[in-house]
Amino acid sequence: MKLAIMGYGVIGSGVAEVLKINQDQIMKKVGEPIELKYILDQKKTLPENGECLIHDFSVIEKDPEVALVVETMGGIHPAYEYIKSCLEKGKHVISSNKAVVDACGSKLIRTAREHDCNFYFEASVGGGIPVIRTLYHNYAGEEVTEITGILNGTTNFILSQMKKKGAGFSETLREAQQLGYAERDPSADVDGFDTSRKTAILLSMTSGNRCRHEDIYTEGIRNVSAIDFEYAEKLGMNIRLLGSVQAVEDRYFAYVAPLMIGSSDPLYPVDGVFNGIRIVGNCLGTTMLYGMGAGKLPTASAVVSDIIAAVRHRGHFQGIGWSEKMIEIEPMGSNAFRYLARIEGTPEGLEEALREAFLEEETAFRPIRLNGRSDEFAVLTDILFEEDFLANLKDFEEKTGRRIFHFIRVKCGDHEI
Ligand code: HSE
Repeated sequence: MKLAIMGYGVIGSGVAEVLKINQDQIMKKVGEPIELKYILDQKKTLPENGECLIHDFSVIEKDPEVALVVETMGGIHPAYEYIKSCLEKGKHVISSNKAVVDACGSKLIRTAREHDCNFYFEASVGGGIPVIRTLYHNYAGEEVTEITGILNGTTNFILSQMKKKGAGFSETLREAQQLGYAERDPSADVDGFDTSRKTAILLSMTSGNRCRHEDIYTEGIRNVSAIDFEYAEKLGMNIRLLGSVQAVEDRYFAYVAPLMIGSSDPLYPVDGVFNGIRIVGNCLGTTMLYGMGAGKLPTASAVVSDIIAAVRHRGHFQGIGWSEKMIEIEPMGSNAFRYLARIEGTPEGLEEALREAFLEEETAFRPIRLNGRSDEFAVLTDILFEEDFLANLKDFEEKTGRRIFHFIRVKCGDHEI
């Protein structure tokens, strides 16, 4: 079968490389060679596969020999228009582009269904980690109640380094940029938007319906500090940027935020640029997927697995995806967490006010103090709905005149503290 790759950057060129490295293996699996016929890119020349280089999309669109199209261009336009046009001609399209999957996925899935072909997007979440197909196949008979993941390698690298070195966010970001792990404009990663898009795709897979990543509460890691890690260490916990989706009957909860997680959480040891995705099903219980969430060959490997699926499902729509019906995401205030609240001064004389705001009567009052610091301490609250926590925090500040410098959400079993 003949293939075209649209966008020959890191991932696009990785796809050509994986097809070459594993060509015998792939040939055995699908029974015929996958031939790269076109590469659509703005580059003038290419060091390898230069003979395939074209600059005009219509060549791909009009060539009936091209049955498979890989989109690794990124961005929404013109990726969306190109993908749609290929699907309308019955060509299978495989995309690694989370922006287009998140914004236009349901329309493209419908177009694929109408034209008996497939729109696959395994590489759009978790890079090389096979999460989309796991949800579609292995969780087909399950009611998925929660998916929580470390979905961004850049921020996980930064947080891992902060923990290891006791360093602050800005200096660690600079180091990550020097090492090539973080972009010069790091916003999409560190402000949580990349994780938010991936979380929206996971929510759409879970619910079977469409959602908007703009409706997911999204907080990045810029405000996580070395002091937060000192408290985390005292509690034997880790801080990670999580994207989380929960389904409770027909209500959907989702957020992206840095959280403290305890050592019994399978996500706790996920370090450096790795990703981890914990999926909970009503009968299966918890499964954890772990691996390379980014990078040339791992991401390209996921694209190639989609290419093989497309060959196997030629002529019919496989059904991976979701409908165009929009679901509502519950407001962030209706999520419940424990919170580590960092409070100005020392705890003397504050027990009553802190109890009133954050602790049940039977909870032990155990302020947490860092060695050598008298300007602040912290309390770990009981589980509170976020809207109650925020209202109580405001009341506490007004009543006591003490500032709460910062808070960080905590996800843990009671036995861990
Ligand atoms: N910038 C992303 C990450 C790449 O760091 O995980 C994959 O989406």
